[in-house]
Amino acid sequence: MDPDWWRDAVVYQVYPRSFADSDADGLGDLRGVISRVDYLRGLGIDAVWLSPFYPSPLADGGYDVVDYRDVDSRLGTLADLDDLIEALHEAGIRLIIDIVPNHSSSEHPWFRAALASPRGSEERERYVFMEGAGADGSEPPSDWQSHFGGSAWERTPDGQFYLHLFAEEQPDFNWSHPDVRKEFLAILGFWSDRGVDGFRIDVAHTLVKDLAHPLRSQPTIDSLLPEDGSDPLYDRDELHQIYREWRELFDRYDPPRMAVAEAWVPASRRVRYASPESLGQAFNFDLLRAPWDAAAFAEIIARNLRFADEAHSSSTWVLSNHDVVRHATRYALPDGADLDAWLLEGRPLGPAQALQGDRRARAAAMLVLALPGSVYLYQGEELGLHEVSEIGIQDLQDPIWRRSEGRQKGRDGCRVPLPWTAAGRSFGFGANGSHLPQPRWFASHAADVEERDPGSMLSLYRSAIALRRLLRTEGGVSGLPAVRRDGDLVVIEREGGLTSVTNFSSEPVRWSHGGRVLLSSSDLTSEPTIPGETTVWFGELHESSIAEEAGS
Ligand code: NOJ
Repeated sequence: MDPDWWRDAVVYQVYPRSFADSDADGLGDLRGVISRVDYLRGLGIDAVWLSPFYPSPLADGGYDVVDYRDVDSRLGTLADLDDLIEALHEAGIRLIIDIVPNHSSSEHPWFRAALASPRGSEERERYVFMEGAGADGSEPPSDWQSHFGGSAWERTPDGQFYLHLFAEEQPDFNWSHPDVRKEFLAILGFWSDRGVDGFRIDVAHTLVKDLAHPLRSQPTIDSLLPEDGSDPLYDRDELHQIYREWRELFDRYDPPRMAVAEAWVPASRRVRYASPESLGQAFNFDLLRAPWDAAAFAEIIARNLRFADEAHSSSTWVLSNHDVVRHATRYALPDGADLDAWLLEGRPLGPAQALQGDRRARAAAMLVLALPGSVYLYQGEELGLHEVSEIGIQDLQDPIWRRSEGRQKGRDGCRVPLPWTAAGRSFGFGANGSHLPQPRWFASHAADVEERDPGSMLSLYRSAIALRRLLRTEGGVSGLPAVRRDGDLVVIEREGGLTSVTNFSSEPVRWSHGGRVLLSSSDLTSEPTIPGETTVWFGELHESSIAEEAGS
């Protein structure tokens, strides 16, 4: 089997509780994913990244894990997971699962034992317990902040504090403890033995902290990190010792297991996580934060191609995931808009805004699919879903809402269960309701509607992914592309004959370099122009390949 399959893969993120519900309890599950494997095959993806399915009290959407070797009973069983692996593999699709090594759930047996044991005990050493500051020890030990708002320290009934960089139900492990290191190696081995093909490593940049006394001040969360690894909490060089051990384990399998780091670090530091001795690949989140702007996109693309090449890795391209406002909506709102404020207002987009978002989202999808490297898609983006801003506060699940004391609504708006059919109580998500309310406008984005419409977002994704595959195998498209900005145009020229041109302005721009049009994200009216907010692929494929592709 090709050990490098992941380098150019199109990976589809499944957030299992919101994908498909097979048992009518309103929560998506593994049998639900199995029931949609044909859809995934039809989309043409190479791999699924499955967000956490482990037993969890759901304090943070499953990123609070009680048992790293099991399946939450509401989502199925280990046997269902085995069946999912088999069904995906039969469809030629690999499976990447989420590993959450920075913290467990506060319901994890180790943390329960730690709370039940006295200060200074071996049980407490596996987490980060400390005495408080101030004359009577009632102040948090440092000014460290939780990503979800408030202090990163929680006091226990006996007066000690424990560290949680996320919710208080997510205590941080102490990665200097040998039990923690051993346990995660065993967990990675457990899943690799079961046939899982790779791992997405949750907050891979946070595991190791500088806990030397006195604790250093770090009152901001990780937005502006130093480039020398000197932050007390994030992106420390010692992390890569851990990942080197993991790499040794991954490389014992055939093909080696892949890993991709979720590391919110400066682009120049990403190479460390992406190097072959470490995790091998790292998410590049630059496009998640980029405005709709040709110069910004061209610079990000060129820079990340360079970094990935330096790391002997391949780049990754991400427009959306389960943590951010969906990109169709980001592109619908004015550049620089305060997304939290917009969510709090709870007003849906106006029709003209939504159309602009759709048009740009189509162009952006084709732009990233023209690039070498792995493209990570988030469930529902292929249906052109927008963020659901209308969720009432009584229905919010994200701990961000509570911990920010109502200043931020959080991430539920991109986690609303998918619409599979225009009709039905939960738009075909399941036979019953859905754990987050779906808006009425989901009907027009339902998969069964889009399947019948050659102009839909789903049809565009299918065509672009199929062509991408064809261009690689039959067109011989390979290597690093030339990336060029020409005014409002971003031009990607790939060896082997694919040229992708994206027009970021809303007006048509002349483009007379010719070439045969393979695909366009909007209707082409008068050549030789690229319509506003459109990507066009020009290429050299043989007639027969194109005919086959059109017929498939
Ligand atoms: C990153 C995950 O993507 C996010 O959903 C989660 O809340 C945090 N890590 C904590 O695990």
